Amino acid sequence: MWDAEAVAFDDQPDHGLRDAGVRDAWRTLLVSLLPPVPARVADLGCGTGTLSGLLAEEGYAVDGVDFSAEMVRRASAKAGSYPGTSFVVGDAAEPPLAAASYDVVLCRHVLWALPDPVAALRRWVDLLAPGGRLVLVEGSWSTGAGLTAAETLGLLEEVGRPGTVRVLEEAAYWGRRIEDERYVVVG
Ligand SMILES: C[S@@+](CC[C@H](N)C(=O)[O-])C[C@H]1O[C@@H](n2cnc3c(N)ncnc32)[C@H](O)[C@@H]1O
Repeated sequence: MWDAEAVAFDDQPDHGLRDAGVRDAWRTLLVSLLPPVPARVADLGCGTGTLSGLLAEEGYAVDGVDFSAEMVRRASAKAGSYPGTSFVVGDAAEPPLAAASYDVVLCRHVLWALPDPVAALRRWVDLLAPGGRLVLVEGSWSTGAGLTAAETLGLLEEVGRPGTVRVLEEAAYWGRRIEDERYVVVG
């Protein structure tokens, strides 16, 4: 399914970040939540690599993982030429990445869809170097899918990583006004 979705994935403002204002909103947000460069980021369920590329532009080393070969192909084309950046086909729930190597595990709009999110979070915590952080962008969408911020905080508590929430209600992130719950949690 995600191979097919890849073709038009970037047409959504928050996916392709083609609009300068939306792109700047995400850049400002992520830079404010991440440690300063140099730092290493695992982007799990990286999709077409838009966030990976944004961070690579800022000087971060980024390793992206996605189980869709077509997403990974597009991410590699978009951002694979930045130094220290790589993309690999794999399961975000069991990322084929080195333990204790990442300053940041970033995941946008994937945790909610994993069959066992607590098990996945435990593996993500294992990827973190000392002092590392989880940056989880999620939502509870008008479609009925997703996770509320309270649910995501509960999952983090289960893995011993209390988190803080920042609500992302501004239209600048989505290219339109939104009515549902969207947020980022840092743990
Ligand atoms: C909604 S998209 C988000 C893409 C990207 N994180 C972003 O925000 O632009 C979900 C992505 O997660 C990937 N995905 C979903 N479940 C996955 C899993 N278990 N392992 C790896 N990738 C997964 C899909 O292939 C898709 O690229």
